[in-house]
Amino acid sequence: MKSAAVVLAGLLALGAYYVYLPLPGTVSQPWRLMALDAAFRVAQDTCNLAHFLGIGHHLRVLNFLIGSFDQTNSQTSERVKITDTQFDGVEVRVYEPSQEGEKRLKRSVVYIHGGGWALASARGGYYNNLCLVMAESLDAVIVSIEYRLVPDFHFPAQFDDVMNAVKHFMLPEVLAHYSVDPNRVAISGDSAGGNLAAAVCQEMTQEENVTNQFKLQALIYPVLQPLDFNTPSYQQNEITAVLSRFVMVKFWLDYFNGDYDFAFSMMMNNHTALDVDLVSPFRERLDWTFLLPSRFRKNYKPAVPATGKAEIIQALPALLDVRAAPLLAEREVFRLQPKTYILTCEIDVLRDDGLMYAKRLEKAGVEVTVDHFEDCFHGCMIFTVWPTNFFAGHLTRDSYIKWLDQNL
Ligand SMILES: *[C@@H]1O[C@H](CO)[C@@H](O)[C@H](O)[C@H]1NC(C)=O
Ligand SMILES: *[C@@H]1O[C@H](CO)[C@@H](O)[C@H](O)[C@H]1NC(C)=O
Repeated sequence: MKSAAVVLAGLLALGAYYVYLPLPGTVSQPWRLMALDAAFRVAQDTCNLAHFLGIGHHLRVLNFLIGSFDQTNSQTSERVKITDTQFDGVEVRVYEPSQEGEKRLKRSVVYIHGGGWALASARGGYYNNLCLVMAESLDAVIVSIEYRLVPDFHFPAQFDDVMNAVKHFMLPEVLAHYSVDPNRVAISGDSAGGNLAAAVCQEMTQEENVTNQFKLQALIYPVLQPLDFNTPSYQQNEITAVLSRFVMVKFWLDYFNGDYDFAFSMMMNNHTALDVDLVSPFRERLDWTFLLPSRFRKNYKPAVPATGKAEIIQALPALLDVRAAPLLAEREVFRLQPKTYILTCEIDVLRDDGLMYAKRLEKAGVEVTVDHFEDCFHGCMIFTVWPTNFFAGHLTRDSYIKWLDQNL
């Protein structure tokens, strides 16, 4: 009896540990978000244990779990033809709305799914449903790229996959095959997919041999830089739902196949301390003390240690590579970018990555729409179907699709 009480108390404490999460008062459906976050953390901790026991890389195990769950809610539509094929050797899923009456050219969106370069799938339910809704409501051809994932492949494999698929799709004969209007194609993605979308869009605008360019880019809570893990949004949301600072730093380290031992130094910005000379040319490109409006800066102070660890950037030069960190690009590259939509959420460590990118585009003369959601959280846009349906998911998705419809 006594031991049962001890076990019960232990389980209650564990339950409380997982479920309780300090959330800002503005968030909608806080209990549902705490439950989602608790489930995700239990899954992550289980996978970390599996990793520790040598069963498999924690991200591979986590993606297996997510994949099993994600297959259950995949939808189809009579009005959209779905085809799995390859573009220049890269797996893609293409959504084509059925033609009614005369054949006319359609709009198109190239979509890159999120998941820390390591999780989720174009073919899983979450992204399948998003692309299906986009194809139907925009009457557009959607190309969803199934790029290769961490930990089996690391940077720049993900970037290269998206770039190769995009270059193939943008060939005049391929666009014609899908009845796509070459002047009305957008590139878009969420989270790590927003990172790849922004990076590939930059690269495309600098390619010499490209006939067609994107009309728009639409970035949903994108990841854009690994140099400052103490922006106001990183400080404010250090421990919050779905994505904490520590987990984001680990996603970056896995993307570069780096050592987890660097994580705590990077969380303190020791990899970009003042004595790390390699970083000097990039500092002003992400200086949020003048790139962020004061209502987002609040009273947060920049974290710029005087002395740090130069060996981190020496070991991981990709930290300064614009293909991984598009926010670090030169002004000249920003000037070439198409009209842009950036969706940001208040409850998100990455809020300021998106806001700084918007400001740099604006300063370079690009037309930018920032769609900021005060009561929404990182990753929310795919959470629209039971048992993970959120108002935040519908709100952000509707707003995103509306902007595309009006601008593409
Ligand atoms: C551009 O295309 C031309 C002709 O197809 C080719 O000769 C040239 O090498 C290409 N340039 C680049 C930078 O790929
Ligand atoms: C960061 O650097 C400071 C020196 O500037 C040092 O005292 C501290 O231990 C370092 N922290 C980590 C986690 O590397």
